[in-house]
Amino acid sequence: MLTPFKTALLLLIALVLLAAFMQYPSSTTSGPEYTSDAKLELPEHYRDWVYLTSGFDMSYNPAMQMADHHMFDNVFVNPEAYKAFVQTGTWPDKTMLVLEVRDAQGKGSINQKGNYQGTEVMGLEVHIKDEARFPGKWAFFGFDDGKTGKMVPLTADCYTCHAAHAAVDTTFVQFYPTLLPIAKSKGTLSAAYQKETEASEKNEKK
Ligand code: HEC
Repeated sequence: MLTPFKTALLLLIALVLLAAFMQYPSSTTSGPEYTSDAKLELPEHYRDWVYLTSGFDMSYNPAMQMADHHMFDNVFVNPEAYKAFVQTGTWPDKTMLVLEVRDAQGKGSINQKGNYQGTEVMGLEVHIKDEARFPGKWAFFGFDDGKTGKMVPLTADCYTCHAAHAAVDTTFVQFYPTLLPIAKSKGTLSAAYQKETEASEKNEKK
């Protein structure tokens, strides 16, 4: 027999479970969603995803003078894709990598030296693998503002640089410290990247 006390207790447990379930972010089902005009919906919970790296003042052009401010970039990946990478050394279909750019701050609070990240997001780009949708399997989306991103045209230099220099499947795994050893041990490093590292190792020995 359920006493009124037991009934109340069961009800309470049910409510707590329901509340916990509703709070659970949709980051666990993190597949891409597109709008009817082929934009990508911002994966809003990307900050709950797996963190890969922070680049500081990275530049592809040795001659380029940095302006008098510094920049950080942070890279995140959806958890399902991360798990698959750990097992296989490469990315599954529906992988989404987010690159978030923040400005570097110097003086503030107790900080006297070095840099920390500002609260404002200065840029947001997504690299997404959707085999059925994109001819090269992957596409870039830029989020200027708001919650939907426009696809970067396939002719942009984003695609050329990533294809020519990225270590695994057009992504820059050589800069993601927890993933590079996995790719090495699984033998999934791209031919282009292996050639590049061999060439630079030879140069260092000279
Ligand atoms: C000259 C080479 C180069 C070009 C051009 C380039 N990138 Fe990248 N990209 C990189 C490097 C290097 C990283 C690694 C950043 C890090 O380690 O923090 C990267 C990382 C990324 C990432 C994180 C996921 C990944 O694929 O590794 C995204 C998203 C991204 N770039 C988007 C873009 C977009 C969009 C463009 C064009 C508007 C672009 N990139 C152009 C070199 C390039």
